[in-house]
Amino acid sequence: MNEAASNRVMIFDTTLRDGEQAPGCSMTQREKLRVAAALRDLKVDVIEAGFAAASPGDFDSVQAIAAEIEGPVVCSLARCHPGDIERAWSAVQGARRPRIHVFIATSEIHRTYKLQMAKEEIIRRAVESVKLARSLCADVEFSAEDASRTEPGYLADVVAAVIEAGASTINVPDTLGYTVPDEYFSLFRHLKEHVAGIDRVTLSVHCHNDLGMAVANSLAAVSAGARQVECTINGIGERAGNCSLEEIVMALKTRSGHFQVETGIDTRRLYPTSRLVSSITGMHVPRNKAVVGENAFAHESGIHQDGMLKHASTYEIMRPEDVGISRSNLVLGKHSGRHAFRERVQQLGFNLGEEELNRAFAEFKKLADRKKEMFDADIEAIIMSGDSDGTGPWQLEELHITAGTGTIAAGAVRMKHADGRIVNEAAVGDGPVEAAFKALERATGVVLELQNFELRSVTTGEDAQGEVTVTVDHGGRSYRGLGVSTDIVQAGALAYLDVINRVCRRAGAPERDAARPAGRIASV
Ligand code: KIV
Ligand code: ZN
Repeated sequence: MNEAASNRVMIFDTTLRDGEQAPGCSMTQREKLRVAAALRDLKVDVIEAGFAAASPGDFDSVQAIAAEIEGPVVCSLARCHPGDIERAWSAVQGARRPRIHVFIATSEIHRTYKLQMAKEEIIRRAVESVKLARSLCADVEFSAEDASRTEPGYLADVVAAVIEAGASTINVPDTLGYTVPDEYFSLFRHLKEHVAGIDRVTLSVHCHNDLGMAVANSLAAVSAGARQVECTINGIGERAGNCSLEEIVMALKTRSGHFQVETGIDTRRLYPTSRLVSSITGMHVPRNKAVVGENAFAHESGIHQDGMLKHASTYEIMRPEDVGISRSNLVLGKHSGRHAFRERVQQLGFNLGEEELNRAFAEFKKLADRKKEMFDADIEAIIMSGDSDGTGPWQLEELHITAGTGTIAAGAVRMKHADGRIVNEAAVGDGPVEAAFKALERATGVVLELQNFELRSVTTGEDAQGEVTVTVDHGGRSYRGLGVSTDIVQAGALAYLDVINRVCRRAGAPERDAARPAGRIASV
């Protein structure tokens, strides 16, 4: 489809490919499927589901998304190698609307140092690859990696050749986040003016955020005629990340009079999707992040509050409800019923099955007994804390901690296994959290190497819930766990237990790990 002359900008989401490449952002297949379903509900045009040739796990995830997600185009990345392209096709061929996305670097720096290939050889390889991809799939995208640092004349030759070979989308990435808006605008104009056949294809923009200009550069490309924007939820991605989907979409919507284009995004799903990706990846959204940050619609100064009371447009250019944030943050209480809870969950953008809803409602009731006020963020945290790849086999029945200044912390746990075993164990540690972690390890036989521990408050107030995210290593594999509770030691223990259960559920996991070396853990 040629979108070049139209006013419709296609949104190509690469959260599951470029976003997942960010350190600590890797996702399980089930998590990827959940994100892909949220992207479908957000109404993105294209989901880049992964890089099928990268690993068997990546292949399986792309294949599962292709099979299950209806609506958007589902695409896999491939280098300009026949093996990669064939693997990409095997993974996406089950999709209703499959796409193969091939790329090769074109800049002088990459040609000389990375590829050690001459200009002509790169064109030849690009053309052969697009032709092979086209022999398998009707929808082929070509990316000239590091395009923004490529000589414009040579880039135009590459682009003309791959259009001739059958590519229908041409992506011009700013791979290093190096360009600036007017320079990038000129590069797109150059291609539009000098490449034969450019009006037959969709020009695409793909920006990284190394200098903080990914969104601004993408907007400049749209002004110059790009009609596909590649972006990620919350801007996650390599190094400083990619162009943020929610920011570019709201910039195009809020300033539609200026840009004269539109997207097909259901903007009310932006906030729930952002929360979902943040919870799954453990990458928290900064409070002051544009569009979806906690403070994006908060007005603190008296002058602003006064203006807002007189008319919201005085200090608000977007309405929170347009991005899926509820104005009445204070929602339900301990007397609220299941029906009201279900409604609120749906308003927050979650589509839970009956079983998930029952679990969340039971947790909600327990929490509402302990907390004065329940906020949307509390409900989201409850939903997210239950969003692991299945549950169990271990359940924490009781946790006792003794700690104080100048004393050794001690932790005792009572654990129940799905096979009916009850295990009581205790351990000491430098602090209450460490004591709890060690008691869990002793009880379950799973020994983890903690790499990162993050605690944040889900809402404000003294009785706010604490959300703990842990990143740990087990057998050379990295895992992430999440726990939420009004008691922060318990939140930590639940996050650790989340990982222990993930390890136990992995096929081939040993029954018990070797115990920690003596001295690192002590019985009480
Ligand atoms: O940044 C980049 O150049 C990429 C390409 C592979 C599209 O991610
Ligand atoms: Zn990229």
